Amino acid sequence: MAYIIGVDIGTSGTKTVLFDESGKVIASKTIEYPMYQPKNGYAEQDPADWANASLNTIKAVVSESGVSKDDVKGIGLSGQMHGLVMLDKDNEVIRNSIIWCDQRTAKEVGEMNAKLGERKLIEITANPALTGWTAAKILWVKNNEPQNYERCRHILLPKDYIRFILTGEYATEVSDASGMQLLDVPNRCWSDEILDTLEIDKSLLGKVYESCEVTGTLTKKAAELTGLNEGTIVVGGAGDNAAAAIGTGVVEDGKAFTTIGTSGVVFAHTSNISIDALGRVHTCCAAVPDTWHVMGVTQGAGLSLKWFRDNFCQSEKDVAKLMSVDEYYLMDKEAETVEVGSNRLLYLPYLMGERTPHLDPDARGVFFGLSAMHTKKDMLRAVMEGVSYSLRDCVEVFREMKININDMMACGGGGSSPLWRSMLSDLYGCPVKTLESKEGPALGVALLAAVGAGIYSCVPEACKAVIKINKTQQPNADRALKYEEYYQLYREIYPALKDKFEKLSSL
Ligand code: XUL
Repeated sequence: MAYIIGVDIGTSGTKTVLFDESGKVIASKTIEYPMYQPKNGYAEQDPADWANASLNTIKAVVSESGVSKDDVKGIGLSGQMHGLVMLDKDNEVIRNSIIWCDQRTAKEVGEMNAKLGERKLIEITANPALTGWTAAKILWVKNNEPQNYERCRHILLPKDYIRFILTGEYATEVSDASGMQLLDVPNRCWSDEILDTLEIDKSLLGKVYESCEVTGTLTKKAAELTGLNEGTIVVGGAGDNAAAAIGTGVVEDGKAFTTIGTSGVVFAHTSNISIDALGRVHTCCAAVPDTWHVMGVTQGAGLSLKWFRDNFCQSEKDVAKLMSVDEYYLMDKEAETVEVGSNRLLYLPYLMGERTPHLDPDARGVFFGLSAMHTKKDMLRAVMEGVSYSLRDCVEVFREMKININDMMACGGGGSSPLWRSMLSDLYGCPVKTLESKEGPALGVALLAAVGAGIYSCVPEACKAVIKINKTQQPNADRALKYEEYYQLYREIYPALKDKFEKLSSL
């Protein structure tokens, strides 16, 4: 039997899973790490934390599984997109990574638009200039920390830094590179025009591969640190969303998934490139060669619930510990006891600004309609509903773009909540399915590694062999009607507050 490893370098932690070639989980290990917010709207992580977590989780799954290292045929890397890792001439990390949800770059976004023009940017990179994407962050370091920029010799994305640690190669792949805003997305290569205009030296960037291509092999040192064989292949892998698409079998037109991780994403596969002229959803290269995907992003999805848990749910945490159950399971049960609409309480999940459909780094979270009768349970359910309204916003944009969705999967931590799935199904008006495997991105990149290692001949074939549907949540007509009323009101709140958010950010 052949085995493959998927490593997912997420925002809350790195999860590594060792699978057999049929996709069965043999061993899994997660190591968590912090996110730093030195200022309102800033978000950073230490790449050393990702490296330690990646090496140690690989080591743990290999040793716990009892699988012979000779049978581990490849590694796939997935990870949070858009983060900026800068290395100096000695390959030392220059500063903490400015990660995907950081919103400090409004000025640089203006600079990109002024230099390139909004239309040209969308034409080449398939997306408008975005505060969270890598190009704006590179310009921010250039403008604000010239001494750091001066020392920079290599620019890598989070998972590509781990590739460097494992293989010594400076490389990336098309799906994650799409989120740097330096890639010519229709042609799947670095854009000289963008790089020249922004005065970013192309030699700082890694080589671009397709996601299932082999990008290098484990060095002797990495082999010693992980317990694997030197020479084990590492494939391109994919950004976390493109990886989740493979892990949920979203590799054909009509198929889509919703993931509720730290961020929330609605993602649809497209074999022809499709771009929203208003820039409300992202278009990126998919991890299936020569195909693309569109995705709408809610910045603060699982992050909203985690924020609520960490600030207001100490008693749930204590009880969950006593009962040996998951804290989120208890919170789900509490939210279930509240009616649709949370007793007329709405929540806007813009804790870290927003992307779809309101591209606005200044937007912030809102509870709307708080009354003295409300309890923590109402607020808890309102948070889950607000995230679901925001995900429905993404689906609305797809509908306008005539992207047809006839198959919706749910994944990510939030996707495992039956309550959250029922909200999505009622709000989308379509069944929402879950899969037997809960491993989304890690499975996705392990399958890419299986293709790279020749175990499967192509990505769709690997998905067909491995991905199995589990439960289907059907929409409920009565609930859907009620949600619709709340959703329509939800849609009116952001426009009414837009200029107030801007004022708040300038205080
Ligand atoms: C996608 C995005 C997030 C991150 C973190 O554009 O920013 O999904 O990849 O998970």
